[in-house]
Amino acid sequence: MRAAVLEEFGAPLVVQEVELAEPRAGEVLVRVVACGVCHTDLYTASGADPTGYAPAVLGHEGAGVVERVGEGVSSVAVGDHVVTLFSPQCRECIHCLDPRTNLCLAIREQQNVGHLPDGTTRLSRGGEPLRHFMGTSTFAEYTVMPEIALARINPDAPLAHACLFACGLSTGLGAAINTAEVQAGTTCVIFGAGIVGLGAVAGCRLQGAERIVCVDLSDQRLALAAGQGATDLVRGGGDAVAAILEMTGGLGADYTFEATGRVEVMGQAVEAARMGWGMATMCGVAGKGRTLDIVPRLLITGRRVTGSSFGGIKGRDQVPALLERSLAGEIDVEPLVSHRLSLEEVNRGFDLMHAQDGIRSVIDLS
Ligand SMILES: NC(=O)c1ccc[n+]([C@@H]2O[C@H](COP(=O)([O-])OP(=O)(O)OC[C@H]3O[C@@H](n4cnc5c(N)ncnc54)[C@H](O)[C@@H]3O)[C@@H](O)[C@H]2O)c1
Ligand SMILES: [Zn+2]
Ligand SMILES: [Zn+2]
Repeated sequence: MRAAVLEEFGAPLVVQEVELAEPRAGEVLVRVVACGVCHTDLYTASGADPTGYAPAVLGHEGAGVVERVGEGVSSVAVGDHVVTLFSPQCRECIHCLDPRTNLCLAIREQQNVGHLPDGTTRLSRGGEPLRHFMGTSTFAEYTVMPEIALARINPDAPLAHACLFACGLSTGLGAAINTAEVQAGTTCVIFGAGIVGLGAVAGCRLQGAERIVCVDLSDQRLALAAGQGATDLVRGGGDAVAAILEMTGGLGADYTFEATGRVEVMGQAVEAARMGWGMATMCGVAGKGRTLDIVPRLLITGRRVTGSSFGGIKGRDQVPALLERSLAGEIDVEPLVSHRLSLEEVNRGFDLMHAQDGIRSVIDLS
């Protein structure tokens, strides 16, 4: 099959023929139909991620169709439409059984080093193993993944929309719905209007927030935030906190969300949360070694700070439900798909991201 291989950090991915073995017990062969290009792919490809490895097939925002299942697989069948989950849900580990977290413990060690759960790879090239990325490797025509990392979805959902629920969009939606559990009638502030921030705007709207303030540096992105339900738009930068305090009678917001990956903005999200009960939720992935400074007085006076990986979403249970809400017209996904690319154009997806041109590029493998 064709796949985009990270050969060398800092160099373009190389689209080439690689081999993919049959699924083993508990594994599933998926024909990838659509895959978003996310910052995490770029972060690893650039070599900035200290845990990255090469060669590997990148990609993790995938959606596709089940082609074959290995022994013992019971939760998906041939022909099912699925979203790939870099954050699996085994439904058995101590974290899966607890409603407070989505951080499944089942296959972490092997996934982190690019192996499937049995410690081997299905990907190879010329007889040499090729590593999987985030347990997904969806910049490819096909992938073999553990059953516990696939969410079975309604086949009516366009797969070019469904793939965004594999990472960025679910992260923002879940931050508002699961992590912060935004209450109706409240004031929310979202810093950053990329796919994560726009998802958080939509999540706050779905939770019935009364006022939804979006902060970004780009007018184009603020316009998209208005389309997702933001009621107020603020230019980001040094004055953003003052602007929010002014809009909220000097107190700050009930909920704030950071979706930029910049620690200085994380600090603003804490300062813009109100005393007494304001909750600041961090979604962005900060650069290596960066730390967040918080004046303890902000905490003593009742602000809470939290964070969320994949929006706290238990993927097999909650991704299908979120997709149903988009099919019901509650989440407008199409404006988030800015470019449709072929697999051969994957590096252009990185260039577009660098240039902040559009929200998401989706690779169309159909
Ligand atoms: N927690 C998770 O599970 C998870 C999942 C996916 C992505 N992420 C992270 O979330 C972050 C956002 O991802 P994205 O794809 O939406 O990114 P993006 O780059 O598309 O969007 C970031 C936005 O932040 C804005 N911004 C930059 N500086 C700002 C400032 N000072 N004030 C206000 N806005 C500012 C930019 O203009 C941009 O619109 C990244 O750090 C990404 O790595 C986290
Ligand atoms: Zn991602
Ligand atoms: Zn688990």
